[in-house]
Amino acid sequence: MNTEPKNVPTAVEDFLPIQGTDYIEIYVGNATQAAHYYQTAFGFQPIARRGLETGSKESVSYVLQQDKIRLVLSSPLKGGTEIGKHIDQHGDGVKVVALWVDDARKSWEETTKRGAKSYMEPVVEQDDHGRVVRSGIHTYGETVHIFVERKDYKGIFLPGFEAWNPHYQPTDIGLKYVDHMVGNVGWNQMNTWVDFYAEVMGFSQLVSFDDKDISTDYTALMSKVMSNGNGRIKFPINEPAEGKKKSQIEEYLDFYGGSGVQHIAVATDNIIETVTALRDRGVEFLRVPTTYYEDLLQRVGKIEEDLEPLKELGILVDRDEEGYLLQIFTKPIEPRPTLFFEIIQRKGAKSFGKGNFKALFEAIEREQASRGTL
Ligand SMILES: [Fe+2]
Repeated sequence: MNTEPKNVPTAVEDFLPIQGTDYIEIYVGNATQAAHYYQTAFGFQPIARRGLETGSKESVSYVLQQDKIRLVLSSPLKGGTEIGKHIDQHGDGVKVVALWVDDARKSWEETTKRGAKSYMEPVVEQDDHGRVVRSGIHTYGETVHIFVERKDYKGIFLPGFEAWNPHYQPTDIGLKYVDHMVGNVGWNQMNTWVDFYAEVMGFSQLVSFDDKDISTDYTALMSKVMSNGNGRIKFPINEPAEGKKKSQIEEYLDFYGGSGVQHIAVATDNIIETVTALRDRGVEFLRVPTTYYEDLLQRVGKIEEDLEPLKELGILVDRDEEGYLLQIFTKPIEPRPTLFFEIIQRKGAKSFGKGNFKALFEAIEREQASRGTL
């Protein structure tokens, strides 16, 4: 008989241990040109490819990497494919947020038995370099998580890919790892997906913002941040809130055709150098009014960086109890106002830049107004 008192908390085992983000697969209209863009503009390095030459008759994929960030860009090779339909519906967008795990079969079993909808039953793929096990589940919209177990694999990426080593190899720009990835979900769906990450994937909630935190005269949104056991995976989930005019989340949902990944935040150790390089290579950023910098140091206190380059580049600063962070957001990187990137440098802060939301949203609204979608 169990005589222990009922309310004593016991250490709960993490049923879904995750090592990190394995790769992010973006379905794009023209992977050949997108690969060039991510090399040239963002400094990603060519790693591997798959296409007609490797026996892939339906789709082509390019794998690019910068430190721990791995992107896969995929396009269809003919009409009527799943990738093609995804692009028609959503435009270029993130299909797969792949998670690096020690046991892809167990990850699939633990999540599907808790209610996840299966996307891919566990499959073993192998070549001369070893074996990889992958499995997958659906998350919000048409986005999926693929669990990748690669402890018995020594190849360049995955079986089926060949090394891609073109002459053109621009230098990297100091991007290090995926800091967080944000999902936009539909009206009143935030808590559904917060519960999904809690119950199905064992994540816990770090923070939440409501429409009082994140609203301007026009736009409003609510957000909760979910994180896995070791904190390596952070997924803020946004939903639109009622404002005087159309929320930026609503604009995303309209153009993406439903829920999806809104932004990928990538970390750097030197945001001034990284953003200077990005800007020189043609990446465009959201700008806040220069008045943002007038009382910045009163708001955030002492920082190590000079104010001038931050102001010149449009880099934002925010502080929490543990330190501060520097961040900046690109404009959407495809024709539809959907997916964009955030560049972030953390100096102790573990938060997400709440203090910048208002200034930022006003900048986004100016862009929305220019698109006629405010
Ligand atoms: Fe972010």
